[in-house]
Amino acid sequence: MRLILLGPPGAGKGTQAEVLVKKLGVPQISTGDILREAVKMGTPVGLKAKAYMDAGDLVPDDVIIGIVKERLERQDCQAGYIFDGMPRTLVQAKALDEQQVAVDVVLSLEVADEVIISRLGGRRSCPDCGAVYHIVTKSPAVDGICDVCGKDLIIRVDDNTETIKNRLQTYYEQTEPLKEYYKAQGKLKTVDGSLEITESVAETLRVLGIV
Ligand code: AP5
Repeated sequence: MRLILLGPPGAGKGTQAEVLVKKLGVPQISTGDILREAVKMGTPVGLKAKAYMDAGDLVPDDVIIGIVKERLERQDCQAGYIFDGMPRTLVQAKALDEQQVAVDVVLSLEVADEVIISRLGGRRSCPDCGAVYHIVTKSPAVDGICDVCGKDLIIRVDDNTETIKNRLQTYYEQTEPLKEYYKAQGKLKTVDGSLEITESVAETLRVLGIV
């Protein structure tokens, strides 16, 4: 399965990818996670990306196309992959096509803005292993502590009201047009991402034909 998860910030792309990775046995390629790791390590890519990410703007296409090309060369992508947060612009989508990166399905998670604002306002993330929680809908066993690795959970720098608004605007201007692009290729499927987590994941599995 070669899948793209499309959707606004906080639509649940990462949450759905976590389940799909286990079901399908293929890796998640999250450009957001790769960039956050690069920022943490202070690599040249991280130094270039940080200001864009903190402001909720998109990192330049050439940087993204470069890191994705490198990631796809790894052995674990032979059986498939789940793109989470990539492509985000027409330039990125066309780059995948030009490089003949196969895509079977593009799954668009549909969620209203007010739901997104409440989700991102309550998100807590592990700075170490990347696990994602929500203070109401997916709370850790011990408040503020990661279930997986025991580290203190953090609020992402870009999960504040002003930056969330900018990320949403950026999504509508630059990423949403990709729905038409992939619809024209006959690859677009949609899922109601505003359902409760288990129901939304179940709908994704049904739409993908995975029992
Ligand atoms: P990235 O990390 O990709 O952020 P994003 O797209 O804004 O998506 P999020 O990670 O915020 O949300 P998500 O959809 O994964 O939701 P999640 O499952 O966590 O990108 C960050 C930045 O990096 C960008 O702003 C940009 O600067 C840069 N970047 C990355 N890729 C790029 C690219 N290709 N080009 C250019 N720049 C790029 O869920 C959110 C919360 O809701 C969680 O708390 C979760 O527990 C909860 N939740 C999830 N699903 C449900 C549900 N069904 N019901 C209730 N709660 C739910």
